[in-house]
Amino acid sequence: CSSVKNIGLEDWVSVGPSAELDKTGQLLAKESPVGPVLIVGTSKSGSLTAVSLTCTHAGCTVGWKTDTKKFVCPCHGSEYALDGTVKRGPAKEGLKTFAAKIEGDSVVVKL
Ligand code: FES
Repeated sequence: CSSVKNIGLEDWVSVGPSAELDKTGQLLAKESPVGPVLIVGTSKSGSLTAVSLTCTHAGCTVGWKTDTKKFVCPCHGSEYALDGTVKRGPAKEGLKTFAAKIEGDSVVVKL
């Protein structure tokens, strides 16, 4: 994806425009170098976190359920909290998380 570019020495990678994040409070970066990640928050949030959407059980892509505020895996039903911790198996390990911040007009994630 051409919008993903390496912008520094510490592997902070731009994953999308901050305006997009502010619109819905979420930004889905489908094609980050580590697979799909979801950034939750807005440019005014004190801290931003990016959560990997790759299920730690067998690698399916989990979906965010707004009503129950959980990530749910369509393959075998694992559930994760917003911070990536496992709520329900078969997954044993939490989703990976990454630091995220706003830089200029972009959301950048430390990978
Ligand atoms: Fe997600 Fe099995 S791959 S529960």
